[in-house]
Amino acid sequence: MITQCKGVLQDLQTCGIESLPIDSGDALPLCPVSIEPQSGTLQPGVDCRPETLAEIEAELTDCKRCALCHGRNKLVFGVGNPHAQLVLVGEAPGREEDRQGVPFVGEAGQLLDRILFAMKLDREQVYICNVIKCRPPQNRDPSPEEIASCEPFLQRQLTAIRPRLIVTLGRFAAQTLLRSQEPMGRLRGHWHEYQGIPLMPTYHPAYLLRTPSGKRDVWEDMKQVIHRLREEQ
Ligand code: URA
Ligand code: URA
Repeated sequence: MITQCKGVLQDLQTCGIESLPIDSGDALPLCPVSIEPQSGTLQPGVDCRPETLAEIEAELTDCKRCALCHGRNKLVFGVGNPHAQLVLVGEAPGREEDRQGVPFVGEAGQLLDRILFAMKLDREQVYICNVIKCRPPQNRDPSPEEIASCEPFLQRQLTAIRPRLIVTLGRFAAQTLLRSQEPMGRLRGHWHEYQGIPLMPTYHPAYLLRTPSGKRDVWEDMKQVIHRLREEQ
């Protein structure tokens, strides 16, 4: 009994509930555990379940948190397996993604599909999203304000999915998530961490379309990803 109660209390603590009221009998937990009376109280019906991707996406309906909403056709939240072991994070939607509301469906996306195929993975197994959910005009780099309003949603997506590994595609995603100014050539090919999750930066497929010689490096990076996914089950 005590052990079970301890577990329940630890769960509540994980949800940010630090104390329970001991002055109102019916709110007491079913166990003789003494808890210091503090400011916080346990509200009936507090929802401790981790939020789902659908709930996070619902919060973005008609999002007007930054100026990108004005030129947006469709917000591009993300696609794939909500329990994916691997999440791939790009920069922001381009023209075709904005039209369809799906990430990486243009020419760069088709190359990404081929990279996944070479890794013996497909879109249904992984989760694909971007740091920024709406298309910047002329595909310009997103501004610090746009990043500040959008990145928390990526963080929440990653908390909901809890992948084993993250791959960032291109300079923008790597430098933003790693809070780094290092060039891609130095970031790629090595394991980093985002929110406690191992992260491998690699080149963006759009960069590979312009610079096919980079494909060799991307394949080296992805081999490390496959190794970690398959060898450390
Ligand atoms: N480039 C990106 O970074 N993301 C997309 O979704 C499409 C192109
Ligand atoms: N520079 C970029 O912006 N992206 C890449 O993927 C590589 C170099």
